[in-house]
Amino acid sequence: MTQHLPAGPSLAYGVATAAYQIEGATSEDGRGASIWDTFAARPGATRDGRDGTVACESYHRFTEDLDLVRDLGVGWYRFSIAWPRVLPEGTGRIEQRGLDYYDRLVDAALDRGVNPTATLYHWDLPQALENRGGWPERATAEAFADYAMVVHDRLGDRVHVWATHNEPWCAAYLGYSAGVHAPGRTEGGAGHRAAHHLNLAHGLAAARLHEAGVTDLGIVLNLAPYWPETPEAAEAADELDALRNRIWLGPLAEGAYDDGLLRVAPELADPTLVRDGDLALVRGSADWVGINYYTPFRPTLADPAVARHPEVEAYPGATPVSFVVREPRTDIGWEVDPAGLEEVLVETHRRTGLPLLVTENGAACPDPVVDGVVDDQDRIDYLRGHLAATERAREAGADVRAYIVWTLLDNFEWAEGYTKTFGIVHVDPDDRTRTPKASYHWLASFLAPESGTASRG
Ligand code: FCB
Repeated sequence: MTQHLPAGPSLAYGVATAAYQIEGATSEDGRGASIWDTFAARPGATRDGRDGTVACESYHRFTEDLDLVRDLGVGWYRFSIAWPRVLPEGTGRIEQRGLDYYDRLVDAALDRGVNPTATLYHWDLPQALENRGGWPERATAEAFADYAMVVHDRLGDRVHVWATHNEPWCAAYLGYSAGVHAPGRTEGGAGHRAAHHLNLAHGLAAARLHEAGVTDLGIVLNLAPYWPETPEAAEAADELDALRNRIWLGPLAEGAYDDGLLRVAPELADPTLVRDGDLALVRGSADWVGINYYTPFRPTLADPAVARHPEVEAYPGATPVSFVVREPRTDIGWEVDPAGLEEVLVETHRRTGLPLLVTENGAACPDPVVDGVVDDQDRIDYLRGHLAATERAREAGADVRAYIVWTLLDNFEWAEGYTKTFGIVHVDPDDRTRTPKASYHWLASFLAPESGTASRG
């Protein structure tokens, strides 16, 4: 029974952030190293050679950030917990100062009338666990469940809507097969092993969190539609759908990896990896599904040799494809098509029957500062179009409860460093001063039409 998800007649709204992307303070208060500290320090790992050491300094400026969330008028703040702040060695010793930080953050959100929703894993695995093999090892999944309980013990009286993972697809395949995200390993099938252990970690944590009384436990997935560009690419599109979407939804909804998936990822049929009971544990373990949506994919069999997309390089067993990317595109090169969001919401609700949250949606824009102002009309158009798509999905029967914008602040955008900005608030690269962009003001007046000029229509 879900009790704390937004459930009103209209959509709820929020903004999202992630620990490593905004906190900085990576060696304060006993925080251990994460795989992103190690990876980002490697020459060439990030586009601008920079890392999350300082980021947005949110570790010290979180009250200012939460003032911005309150003034925006949204009801929800989606943030993530840094595992190495809480358990610097990944397991064992608990660092109270790390928990104290999230304790203060949660109270500060509640004081401002904002509901905090916590994601336990947004990619910052403790380096100590990676040194023992990382996500391709089963022990990492077991460690995750212990970590989840430590966090819940401290925050569970005030945080009621929890997510286990953010985009486990990226953690598995970009991290262990394509090597473009931490820990930067290019080990082919290790991505499949990591994916299974991420599923298992979710299942193990869900069982224990539910037992501890959590009623609103979700998982956040970057599900994507694959629209074959030509009929010949239909089979390849189905493989990609299996590897990105069904690998998570199958265990959740049916307790199984389907045959199409097993054909391209034979590792997942290995009984020493996928042990008896693993998938049964995942089945029915989520009370809601979070969907992060940015773009659709249009696979084509033409020119597979020119495909440099990490998605393609991540799968050793799959048909080589490249992607056609139509205009308009955002600054990160991703095609804009809100119809993809509508499709993913309708399809995921059909498949799982669960309440859905749009846990991330937003756009990278060039964001020039002119006379102290960022007039990001292209981001406003993006948000407006995707909000309309979310409403269409609701009209078509998808039980979508909230729309959460990625992201509050310009921040460390993983392998892109600080070169791509998704924030509705500009962060000065030198002194980290926050300045709301036009999109922030637009959203604020959309949410409180009587006090602004924009309209909900
Ligand atoms: C998603 C991530 C988020 C951010 C956006 C742009 O894949 O969850 O941290 O990087 O993309």
